[in-house]
Amino acid sequence: MKPENQVVMPHENRPPLFEICLAKPSHGDSIARMSRRFIEVDLPWWSWTPKRVATAIRSSDTIAIVARTPKKMLGFGIMRFGEECSHLNLLAVDPAYRRGRIGSDMLRWLEESCYVAGTPSVSLEVRASNRGAIRFYQSLGYEKGELIPRYYCEQESALTMTHHLAEVA
Ligand SMILES: CC(C)(COP(=O)(O)OP(=O)(O)OC[C@H]1O[C@@H](n2cnc3c(N)ncnc32)[C@H](O)[C@@H]1OP(=O)(O)O)[C@@H](O)C(=O)NCCC(=O)NCCS
Repeated sequence: MKPENQVVMPHENRPPLFEICLAKPSHGDSIARMSRRFIEVDLPWWSWTPKRVATAIRSSDTIAIVARTPKKMLGFGIMRFGEECSHLNLLAVDPAYRRGRIGSDMLRWLEESCYVAGTPSVSLEVRASNRGAIRFYQSLGYEKGELIPRYYCEQESALTMTHHLAEVA
């Protein structure tokens, strides 16, 4: 039996103590490696290299966040602000912690930043074969858009998705 004062989390993959905070340049290598393993997996070349991620972290029009415990990075997200529409570049959660609402929490965190910045919508591209991520985005209000053939390394299609933040505010 669990002690009375133990916090029982609604999702078993969710660590009881984690925080979402701005990424530092020192997170760049880990973010890039996770991007290669979990987002750009099996593509012939690596787009979000450590150098590109480091540039994004330092950029004034981009916000990069990490979800972490004191010991481990659990996930990350990178969003570029635009005037009419912000663009989600990357979002991933370590497989051991998926379905624990960490991805949802990070995306909401980024969306709130866009909303406060006066950007009414968020767009993204996702690999058309990535059904899990498409379902994830749909569960958070994203609508399917067009298919862009050969978007990824000239070999895999992208599906565009958009969320109109003003409609749910
Ligand atoms: C997509 C991703 C970020 C989701 O993160 P997550 O923390 O596991 O997602 P959440 O726990 O917040 O999921 C919220 C809801 O989205 C839906 N969802 C999430 N993953 C899903 C999957 N694989 N299949 C179907 N629905 C899914 C579910 O409705 C889920 O709620 P439920 O668990 O109560 O059923 C994560 O699976 C991931 O890192 N994938 C690999 C990288 C990637 O594809 N990134 C997106 C493209 S850039």
